Amino acid sequence: MKMIEIEGGRKLRGSIRVGGAKNASVALIPAAILTDEEATICNIPEITDTDALCDILELLHVKVNRSTESVVINPQEMINTEIEEQYSKKLRASYYFMGALLGKYKKAVMHFPGGCSIGARPIDLHLKGFEALGATVKNEDNKYIVEAKELKGANIYLDIASVGATINIMLAAVKAEGTTIIDNAAKEPEIVNVATFLNNMGAKITGAGTSTIKIIGVEHLHKCFHEVIPDRIEAGTYIIIGALCGEPLRVDNIIPEHIDSLLSKLEEIGVNIEIGPDFVEVLGMEEKLKPTNIKTAVYPGFPTDLQQPFTVLLTQLPGKSKVTETIWENRFMHIPYLKKLGADIEVKNQTATIIGPKKLIGDEVVATDLRAGAAMVVAGLLAEGTTRISNAEHILRGYEQIVEKLQLVGAKISIKEI
Ligand code: UD1
Repeated sequence: MKMIEIEGGRKLRGSIRVGGAKNASVALIPAAILTDEEATICNIPEITDTDALCDILELLHVKVNRSTESVVINPQEMINTEIEEQYSKKLRASYYFMGALLGKYKKAVMHFPGGCSIGARPIDLHLKGFEALGATVKNEDNKYIVEAKELKGANIYLDIASVGATINIMLAAVKAEGTTIIDNAAKEPEIVNVATFLNNMGAKITGAGTSTIKIIGVEHLHKCFHEVIPDRIEAGTYIIIGALCGEPLRVDNIIPEHIDSLLSKLEEIGVNIEIGPDFVEVLGMEEKLKPTNIKTAVYPGFPTDLQQPFTVLLTQLPGKSKVTETIWENRFMHIPYLKKLGADIEVKNQTATIIGPKKLIGDEVVATDLRAGAAMVVAGLLAEGTTRISNAEHILRGYEQIVEKLQLVGAKISIKEI
């Protein structure tokens, strides 16, 4: 087990460079098997989630050549084999192999995916989409067997604008015969990035980034070069850290419009920021801060993945702030630990009410999931004294070199095996 230890209360100065988006990379790696040629993807973050997907590629006899910031994926000698539980359970996004294998071989056998325990996380919409394309789905011995004689384009309406279902259906439909329309598709930037990758390989996808995506099936996908967009959640997390501890702190290599909802909230509460073409510099906070309310929503709404780190900032605002979580039913697991550090928060149903400002004092806490873990890092940097975060491996699933990046701007933070 890994533990992160932070001596908090220090001011952070300088700049932090954001890596490639986790949630795009975890779909791009499985998507790369849809061609028989080589795909080069640069700016893939070095996090344990992308490592786990590369392990699945190797299981499928796909050649993976990983250098500092790029991955070359060559599926020329690939086989279609069952993805066992030891591989699938490491992360939620292992399910993208279902869409990709179905799209390529018309058959996928995979054990249930794992991932953060932030809610029930059903995949019914993914499976309904596969069925609409002509596949049958069997669920036997904790595994899914999805197969089709042929895949045919279809009109698919998603009851919920699910990121995973939108991408998985795109992967399955890209080589299907005819045209697929996904209505009420999710609009997250990562979906646009995956569609761009597939189009670079010769797919015919239009409308990604809107709620209607059209996919005209093609027979062949070819080699390509692609770049992952910057991680908007990593960017947002460091910007929140900048608001609390920056003096000043600049967050580089980002697309600011991807985090508009966060930036306008920061301006509303009184955080001074400068927004550049590919950076945000947090200059400091106004003397008089205002409390605020946030409600998580699908893109371009306030991202659920930033809700937990943002709650830490709310503990420092005067008066009453509220957080309403609408995407995941179990995303307040960081709250008991924030309370342990001194925050005044009450949770009722899906809303947390935060009364501030409250001084946070370091203590022993747990990273219960990836973003809850990020919230603990934010809190630990702010809190006076020492904060020890156990289960830190959750954090390493999504934040590339978080310890090193924070050390470079002056944080006293370290990681160790316990
Ligand atoms: C992705 C992100 C995750 C983020 C989430 C919402 C990745 C790898 N992960 O997760 O970080 O928090 O989007 O922005 O990209 N749902 C169903 N049935 C389904 C699929 C989803 O009911 O078949 C529900 C979920 O329970 C949830 C909501 O839809 O309440 C949104 O889920 P979805 O957008 O699919 O999230 P993920 O793709 O799993």
